[in-house]
Amino acid sequence: GRVIAIVPAAGIGARMGAAVPKQYLPLCGAPILSHTLRRLLSHPGIDIVVVALGEGDSWFDSLPEAGHPKLVKARGGKERADSVLSALGSDVFGEADWALVHDAARPCLTHTDIDALLASRSRFPQGAILAMPVRDTMKRAGGDGAISETVCRNALWHALTPQLFNASALKHNLEQALAAGAVITDEASAMEWAGVHPGLVSGRADNIKVTHPDDLQLAALFLEAQQV
Ligand code: C5P
Repeated sequence: GRVIAIVPAAGIGARMGAAVPKQYLPLCGAPILSHTLRRLLSHPGIDIVVVALGEGDSWFDSLPEAGHPKLVKARGGKERADSVLSALGSDVFGEADWALVHDAARPCLTHTDIDALLASRSRFPQGAILAMPVRDTMKRAGGDGAISETVCRNALWHALTPQLFNASALKHNLEQALAAGAVITDEASAMEWAGVHPGLVSGRADNIKVTHPDDLQLAALFLEAQQV
């Protein structure tokens, strides 16, 4: 099957407190989403990139990547999972295709990380995600805002994107999990809900998600250091 990237880019980025959705904020001379799309569109192992856009999106068509021959647009949904599901409904998907889902808000993705995830398919035929082992000591908070306990960090990982699954399996499991009311914050959680145990592939620390205003400065430093 082919590898088709999905970029959910229909969020409003409320935590950024900016007038435009965060994926359109400027970073090193281009909107965040431009950087993200460029890294996916330029990877030789990725055949098509489907981007899920918000209903009132008036910014996307101005991006230099908007007219790229590998790019397809889809309508976003209420939550991130709805946006991914909508993109999976695009008629570009065939039965055997892989969906590589990557947050619009992670502009520092490298080809090294994409390569590692694609190569993991022989080890994890049911799919895998980029992730990072937790480094800090982890605490669970009690209702009073004080520590209730220390959580053993040995087996804990941060889930990153991209996440890679067979597109039809992911679509089926997302539909079922959402219909059952499960809390789905990434693609792996929909697969886990269906009893699959996706692989964990060690990713780079510079693949951060821009969430708060401070993250923009860090993302700029990483982009400048990468020279991809
Ligand atoms: O808000 P958060 O940073 O978790 O969003 C992760 C990604 O999901 C972002 O790229 C955002 O644009 C996207 N998203 C979406 N549709 C929504 C909500 C978020 O495509 N309804």
